[in-house]
Amino acid sequence: MTQPSFQLRAMTLGDIPRLQEIRPTYTSPVILALETSAAPGAALSASWRLVEVPLKTPFSKGDLYNFGPETQEEIRERLLSGKDALEWVALDGDRLAGMVDAQFMNWNHTVFIWNLMIDLDYRRHGLGRQLWDQTVRYARRSGARAVTLETQNTNLAACHFYLKMGCRLVGYHEVYYTNHWQDGEFALFFAYTL
Ligand SMILES: CC(C)(COP(=O)(O)OP(=O)(O)OC[C@H]1O[C@@H](n2cnc3c(N)ncnc32)[C@H](O)[C@@H]1OP(=O)(O)O)[C@@H](O)C(=O)NCCC(=O)NCCS
Repeated sequence: MTQPSFQLRAMTLGDIPRLQEIRPTYTSPVILALETSAAPGAALSASWRLVEVPLKTPFSKGDLYNFGPETQEEIRERLLSGKDALEWVALDGDRLAGMVDAQFMNWNHTVFIWNLMIDLDYRRHGLGRQLWDQTVRYARRSGARAVTLETQNTNLAACHFYLKMGCRLVGYHEVYYTNHWQDGEFALFFAYTL
């Protein structure tokens, strides 16, 4: 593919059904496992450690990330909320290549990234960085004190991306998605302070 040049613009209501054209899935040959001394009744001075684990069969996100009707409805609500949300798309010609969906949280003065998704065909072309920069500008304009986001222990690409953008890992949540996190996914939280 020749180097695409992207047009970034505010999302319109008409773009929302088209978000399904963006393929946000990923595979990862390495995931992060969590080693912790925390246990029911154990001392409070617990420790947590992330360890990279190579997999025989790469982890596949499948269609767990998607722009189905529920996600579309959430994005529509945020878009209609006006200044409290940043909803942008990136296009290569007529084709949707990526999007960012972020929201100013009034209660704690942070911007939370709900979705920052680049289509499979358009990764590693600097588009994620462009949408990230857009988010940081929006956060500064909004008077936010930080940009925060959640990703998963299976998403090494996103972890490396956010670290490269200047974020730091600020937490884990082992039981965010399931009680069986040892065999599945758990949540990682990153923050960029302004
Ligand atoms: C994570 C994601 C948004 C990155 O977008 P992108 O457009 O590919 O990122 P960029 O090209 O702007 O990358 C900027 C830098 O981030 C780092 N980076 C990005 N992808 C990386 C990867 N797979 N592995 C290691 N570092 C990576 C690199 O340092 C890169 O700079 P370089 O290409 O000059 O080395 C994209 O992979 C994606 O959409 N993934 C699927 C959906 C997803 O996981 N979204 C985030 C959910 S929270």
